[in-house]
Amino acid sequence: MMRILVTGGAGYIGSVVTEQLVEQGHAVLVFDNLSKGHRDAVVDGAEFVQADLRDYAEVVRALRTFDADAVVHLAADSLVGESMTNPAKYYANNVVAGLTLLGAMKAAAVDRMVFSSTAAVYGEPERQPVEETAPTQPTNPYGETKLAFEHALRWHYEAYGMASLSLRYFNAAGATGRNGERHWPETHLIPIVLQAAAGESGPVTIFGDDYPTRDGTCVRDYIHVQDLARARVAALESLINAPACRAYNLGCGGMGYTVREVIDAVERVTRRQVPLRRAGRRPGDPAVLVASSERIRCDLQWAPRFQNLDEMSRRRGDGWASRTNQTVS
Ligand SMILES: NC(=O)c1ccc[n+]([C@@H]2O[C@H](COP(=O)([O-])OP(=O)(O)OC[C@H]3O[C@@H](n4cnc5c(N)ncnc54)[C@H](O)[C@@H]3O)[C@@H](O)[C@H]2O)c1
Repeated sequence: MMRILVTGGAGYIGSVVTEQLVEQGHAVLVFDNLSKGHRDAVVDGAEFVQADLRDYAEVVRALRTFDADAVVHLAADSLVGESMTNPAKYYANNVVAGLTLLGAMKAAAVDRMVFSSTAAVYGEPERQPVEETAPTQPTNPYGETKLAFEHALRWHYEAYGMASLSLRYFNAAGATGRNGERHWPETHLIPIVLQAAAGESGPVTIFGDDYPTRDGTCVRDYIHVQDLARARVAALESLINAPACRAYNLGCGGMGYTVREVIDAVERVTRRQVPLRRAGRRPGDPAVLVASSERIRCDLQWAPRFQNLDEMSRRRGDGWASRTNQTVS
């Protein structure tokens, strides 16, 4: 049994990580300021403290009183567009708050972390699928701040032996019976298409249908949130057994999915037609972004179990329509 402090554990991915850790008999303390998260997303078996990572004393207190073995760090600001107009917010939360957390871990003698990074650290990679050895050239402050924190992790490993695994992925999707995506405003494609299907928003805009892809729309990588959570549990177990400092990509393992395929999947799942609007390509939108997961498959024997877009297009709970209004807070 491990004792894990989960930052951002009331958020979309963190709530599912917490669910899985508790299900597997681990003790979890969720540390979340609820700036984006939801208190009711935290399963009953987990402890909860509402506090901000920038509060050093509070983080040290939480780590010490909970007697944490390791940290799963998911708390962050993660809107690419917002990061372009307000980079200071991203440096403050994704770098400064992260360093505060690392300082608190050092003070509390907690020396293992699984970090939620992003494939945005690669920018616009030339080769697909993207491997961990690809150049890291972020094109926005969001990716830049995540990469800066990965670099800090590397030096904390060198200097203090603080072990960490950074998980880089593109788009989380899907839900469990209990938790799903509840962001407002929504910026991720699958929930946006679901909202349009439910009549909660206007038409979905397809930005460019003349890309050199199988149906002309952009190809992207989607990972089911339950697969993401399983990767974190595998990473934690590996860190406890063998301290290291590495980055792993998490990808869907295939050729990715086009925007058109996502829309088709939502139409199948909801049995409704999604209203569409066509627009030109957006600057800086590569035709294909797909991650290779070979490294984590070899090292940690992790592979995605959910590779079916229909499964990724379901909202939390069993169905979708009856729970439509629960997805927006
Ligand atoms: N959702 C995706 O598709 C995706 C893709 C790649 C990487 N990621 C990364 O995964 C992580 C989780 O993403 P998510 O979609 O679940 O985001 P989310 O916004 O749903 O969850 C983040 C949580 O962190 C909390 N938080 C933020 N700043 C905090 C602070 N200073 N102190 C305490 N709590 C704080 C928020 O209240 C929220 O509950 C993020 O680090 C994100 O960058 C997400």
